[in-house]
Amino acid sequence: MITSKELREKWIKFYEERGHVNIGAVSLIGDGTTGVMFNVAGMQPLMPYLLGKKHPSGSTRLCNVQGCVRTVDIDSVGDATHFTFFEMMGNWSLGDYFKKEKTRWSFELLTEVFGFEKEKICSTVFEGNAQVPRDNETAELLKGLGIKEENIFYLDKSNNWWELEGTVGTPCGPDNEWFYPRHDNPCSPTCDINCDCGRYVEIGNDVYMQYKKLEGGKYTELENKNVDTGFGLDRLLLFLNNLDDGYKTDLFIDSINLLQEVSGKDYETDEVARKAMRIIADHTRTSVMLIGDRNGIVPSNTGAGYILRRLMRRAIRYCKNLNVDATVILEVAKIFIEKIYNDAYPLLVEKEGYILDEILKEINKFEATLASGMKEFDKCIIGMERKNAFMAQKDPNYIPETVISGKQAFRLYDTFGFPLELTKELAEEKGLTVDEVGFNDAFKEHQEKSKAQAVSAKGGLTEQTEITTNYHTATHIMLAGLRKMFGTSTEQKGSNITEERLRFDFNLDHKMTAEELKELEDFVNDVIERKIDVVKTEEPYNKAVSEGAYGVFTAESDDQIVSIYTIDGVDKQICGGPHAKNTGDLGKFIIKKEESSSSGVRRIKAVLR
Ligand code: ALA
Repeated sequence: MITSKELREKWIKFYEERGHVNIGAVSLIGDGTTGVMFNVAGMQPLMPYLLGKKHPSGSTRLCNVQGCVRTVDIDSVGDATHFTFFEMMGNWSLGDYFKKEKTRWSFELLTEVFGFEKEKICSTVFEGNAQVPRDNETAELLKGLGIKEENIFYLDKSNNWWELEGTVGTPCGPDNEWFYPRHDNPCSPTCDINCDCGRYVEIGNDVYMQYKKLEGGKYTELENKNVDTGFGLDRLLLFLNNLDDGYKTDLFIDSINLLQEVSGKDYETDEVARKAMRIIADHTRTSVMLIGDRNGIVPSNTGAGYILRRLMRRAIRYCKNLNVDATVILEVAKIFIEKIYNDAYPLLVEKEGYILDEILKEINKFEATLASGMKEFDKCIIGMERKNAFMAQKDPNYIPETVISGKQAFRLYDTFGFPLELTKELAEEKGLTVDEVGFNDAFKEHQEKSKAQAVSAKGGLTEQTEITTNYHTATHIMLAGLRKMFGTSTEQKGSNITEERLRFDFNLDHKMTAEELKELEDFVNDVIERKIDVVKTEEPYNKAVSEGAYGVFTAESDDQIVSIYTIDGVDKQICGGPHAKNTGDLGKFIIKKEESSSSGVRRIKAVLR
């Protein structure tokens, strides 16, 4: 038996003994430089160094254990080996050692540290294509180490090439993958690593990053010959413990036991309950990691926040399947925070109260509409069944309807907070599908309507003068002040600007006191006196958000280019503008009135003199 904690330590020790510096892990939230929303691989934050920049550690040999979030496989979660969060154990050569050392070390680690039998180890190398030759060098090195010739496989680019999908200008290259059989009983005489019976499991891979990906699928050779290694901790752990179910490792077993206890259902024998328990455990772990991250996010309706919302709502829904109260998610979260990841991720412990709070908020939000949403969903189904039965009576050739309309799916989304994926999953359970194109059309139509409303609500800003522009900038500074005073959940709820004054609505649960109004006024006037430039930039939406920009704006897609106005050190908002060039242009800011606008929303009227 080897624990996850021991495995992390073994990895780091092995590479430290070979001159590597442990650089620790970075945030799970993508830094925006590649357009990838989450950190999906250990190499992601190391891109500049793989392209030739000197690493701040001064070393050319690095290692770490890096959390990764990959949600492309979210629908597969529920089986034994798929997770949305996992840890990748990595090590890198930045133009330092190359194939000779790397093949030897990976081999040594597998055989000497982990006790794999060398006769059984299989390895795959790149077979070559028009652009990059076959990797004979690696194959020869593997043979030299004692790997049997028949255990070396030459595969194409879809298997033995690693690059960050959807990016350009990023490092990439052919890879060498390591496989090992789970047991010694081949399903047929031809059962090898290409067989899908599941006997062979990929343990990890060594990427020889010596190319840079260009536009149009072309590659150019890098000056640096790098190595990028990734071994999945969760999977290796299962393997080393002779298990065939990732949810039985020490990372998950406590959560599964708790869910068994609370539900009274048996993980081993009840297939439906098993799937639900896995989904709840996996999605809760990822939610804890995303909320508790140093650049933590909270559930929302856009970008990364929406993915988090989907995960959380899916977990909540599966609590219903298991017939347990969704607050069990809080107990599962506590296990991850206090017992499983407390050493490796101490920040989770520090942020525990906050994480649990955010989870509970989302549970309450979704539960408020879940039951009525389910009723609505059932109504759609009953309606469809009735219609099918009626039509079949009239016309024996009638083909029954099996598609939930886009409008219905959108109503479930908009009114009841059902992510499209949830409706799709519910439909699938009934043997139905959802008209996704119709959903997207309904979504767009709704957005256009809201946009039109927003424009008409902008009022005074339709005629932009220097004065109204200054007022607009003042609202940004004021909102930054409000968020500083009352927290970042403070948002703009409305704005109306004329040549004479600004009127600004925002959420706040109390009437502002005279002291608070003075503090806000002083904050704005201080920013004005500091004469800070208001800088406009344009960036993809998700990049802007990952850099801390906020605003009432909702992007149509993550990569939609938006404009951002930054007042350095004060505020960064996604906004259509226009704005004053410098805060010094604004004059003196005076609050004239603070009053209630509607429930939970306050209104400030202020002037610039
Ligand atoms: N970058 C490689 C991977 O993610 C190591 O598998």
